[in-house]
Amino acid sequence: MLAVVPPPVTVRVPAKVNLHLAVGDLRSDGYHDLVTIFQALSLTDEVTVAIADDPGVEVHGEGADAVPTGASNLAWRAVRVLAEHVGRDPDDPKVRVVIRKAIPVAGGMAGGSADAAATLVGLASLWRLEISRDDLATLAGKIGADVPFGIYGGTALGTDRGDRIVPVLSRHTFHWVLAFDRRGLPTPEVFDELDRLRADGDPPRVGEAEAVLEGLASGDPRQLALLLGNDLQAAAVSLRPNLRRTLRAGVNAGALAGMVSGSGPTCAFLCTDGDAAVRVAAELAGAGVCRTVRVAQGPVHGARVIGTEEAP
Ligand code: C5P
Repeated sequence: MLAVVPPPVTVRVPAKVNLHLAVGDLRSDGYHDLVTIFQALSLTDEVTVAIADDPGVEVHGEGADAVPTGASNLAWRAVRVLAEHVGRDPDDPKVRVVIRKAIPVAGGMAGGSADAAATLVGLASLWRLEISRDDLATLAGKIGADVPFGIYGGTALGTDRGDRIVPVLSRHTFHWVLAFDRRGLPTPEVFDELDRLRADGDPPRVGEAEAVLEGLASGDPRQLALLLGNDLQAAAVSLRPNLRRTLRAGVNAGALAGMVSGSGPTCAFLCTDGDAAVRVAAELAGAGVCRTVRVAQGPVHGARVIGTEEAP
């Protein structure tokens, strides 16, 4: 009798922007304590997981050449972590992962973390596991600090390393323009640069997360625009001074506010509505300050199965 091989599973997973990112001190484990508010955006990667005799990771699309496909790939770490958790052999999981990228690589939008979150959700379906989203998020935290948020999506408060997630009810949609820089920026370098800036002086720190939560609840992008803040911005701009020009160009193009997304170098611009975002994107694209411009809205849901291909 032929064994029935389950069909491949495809998962769509969002990028994130941090509306608020307060960075505390460097801890002994190499991480910083964070208080952050994430929002998931309609800029998504798609990840397909399939049973295969030739295991491994394949990456296509935006920035694919810069993504490692070996053991350091976060999606592959997700395969190993889940295999171990359910008693499968992590060294021979018989799984192939195909990633189609639209989220910029090393862009401060948690693209690699999103792919890991999608892999967990996809494998849970492929392997027909009875596992809750909360349990997947706990496993996700072992892969990287931004991975648990990719499981939930929406809008959420993150504390500890950013991996302790509390969903925030947000009934309003916000409109964003994203400016991708020409090269990525490694997250650890940006945190190191912030530590260096803080050792040398006293760069300004963002205020309290509560005000941002109130801005979100108001649904008024003008109010929210005044409250956006990111402690990593000074460090990202210090490493990439050209970002100053990008941020200025977005606001000159009509955005309500611009900020570096996470550790950068992607810049995120909050706009009044969808039409304004399209106008800002067009003008920013013409300003020659960045590689590519995208329009997105948030919040959107987290990693979610969008289809299974029935085997022929
Ligand atoms: O967990 P993840 O691998 O995504 O983190 C990448 C790097 O970013 C860490 O190794 C650390 O240098 C920095 N980081 C940090 N504090 C955090 C999250 C990330 O210093 N809360």
